[in-house]
Amino acid sequence: MHVAAPRPLISRPAGALAAGRVRVPGDKSISHRALMLGGIATGESEIHGLLEGEDVLRTAAAMRLLGAEVERGADRVWRACGRGVGALIEPEDVLDLGNSGTSARLLLGLIASHPITACMTGDASLRRRPMGRAMQPLTEIGARFVARAHDRMPLAIVGAAEPMPIRYRLPVASAQVKSAVLLAGLNTPGATTVIEPEPTRDHSELMLRHFGARLTIEHGKDGARVTTLEGQPELTGRVIRVPGDPSSAAFPAVAALIRPGSEVTIEGVGLNPHRTGLYETLREMGADIRVLNAREEAGEPVGDLQVRAGTLRGIEVPASRAPSMIDEYPILAVAAAFAEGRTVMRGLAELRVKESDRLSAIAEGLSRCGVTVEAGPDSLTVEGVGTPPRGGATIATRLDHRIAMGFLVLGIGAAEPVTVDDAAPIETSFPGFAELMNRLGADIAEPKA
Ligand code: S3P
Repeated sequence: MHVAAPRPLISRPAGALAAGRVRVPGDKSISHRALMLGGIATGESEIHGLLEGEDVLRTAAAMRLLGAEVERGADRVWRACGRGVGALIEPEDVLDLGNSGTSARLLLGLIASHPITACMTGDASLRRRPMGRAMQPLTEIGARFVARAHDRMPLAIVGAAEPMPIRYRLPVASAQVKSAVLLAGLNTPGATTVIEPEPTRDHSELMLRHFGARLTIEHGKDGARVTTLEGQPELTGRVIRVPGDPSSAAFPAVAALIRPGSEVTIEGVGLNPHRTGLYETLREMGADIRVLNAREEAGEPVGDLQVRAGTLRGIEVPASRAPSMIDEYPILAVAAAFAEGRTVMRGLAELRVKESDRLSAIAEGLSRCGVTVEAGPDSLTVEGVGTPPRGGATIATRLDHRIAMGFLVLGIGAAEPVTVDDAAPIETSFPGFAELMNRLGADIAEPKA
């Protein structure tokens, strides 16, 4: 397997960020789902604003191997066309999903209810991540698996010839596992139900409805969300407008907050309430973040985020908020390092199985930058002293885009430059990150040899 040379980047302390208005790339979660549903629906789907990051391109390539037509037009509009629910074909080659957990788990779901066999692998990070959480419910549906020890990839899935509808209660709060079950339910006769004790992002549900599936959502007495999909619907091509990714917007937003004198507006950001926990938390910390021009696009709430620098104070972030900001703890921890006082974040066990063990990557990186930090089994405490952290360190990004971007943002506001040992993973979710930050006034560049 070809392994690219690491690409270090250095972020030097910058002046105020104030180049006005920017747009971040399309939402990663929505982009994956648009290609998958567009790639099985009959008739053409048009996808505007698709994230052209490596993770999503892996999904596009996998969908082609599964028989879908997926093309990028010269106008940057993507077009996808499928053969209808239940018509995926057996891929002739291994599905290589790179760094993308979302591609892996959602495609396992899609394949599980087809009588086909597929082999899957990914990069060193993805090959360390647990696939058992998706394999378990899909086994109940009738799929079979052969995987490495601890349910790691590479693996082979043999889809069910006669899939069974299931009622599945999620043991971990995971939109990927929920989506895997719902996607398997598409080609399963009868009703497939997923029960979520802690509701997670609902992009799959919104997009399934957008394509014509019948889905009911109820709330149990204990607050759990119960989602039921009627199997074997007719899905037909649709137009999809992908909003800017709130998880990507988080990086310029926090950079503007921590660099005195900054004011930045990020246009067209998706504001699905299951994704906006970071912004709620930053406001509780005293941040000046306003939503302008709130609107709805293709069933998703969207707005422009106006962010002004200001003093942040440490707070306690409740565990219940984790599902709505699960990808944002690296950048929240960076914001907390610039705050006055202690920030405690709880309910973070899932961070240990992301693109890296983020709890340990964040703690190690912050501590190298001179910040007092403590990681528990599922918690993180950051001591802010109200003045910028020292910085002046090289951070191991561990094939994790959000660790790379988080520490490059820290370097913008720190006393001394911060280097990340490999910025290449940023391409998975935020192509053009350094250029966009530099347009705003940051100073991110390749280190001089
Ligand atoms: C995602 C769900 C989350 C998130 C990931 C994208 C999705 O993962 O961390 O970046 O698109 O469904 P989990 O389901 O593992 O929490």
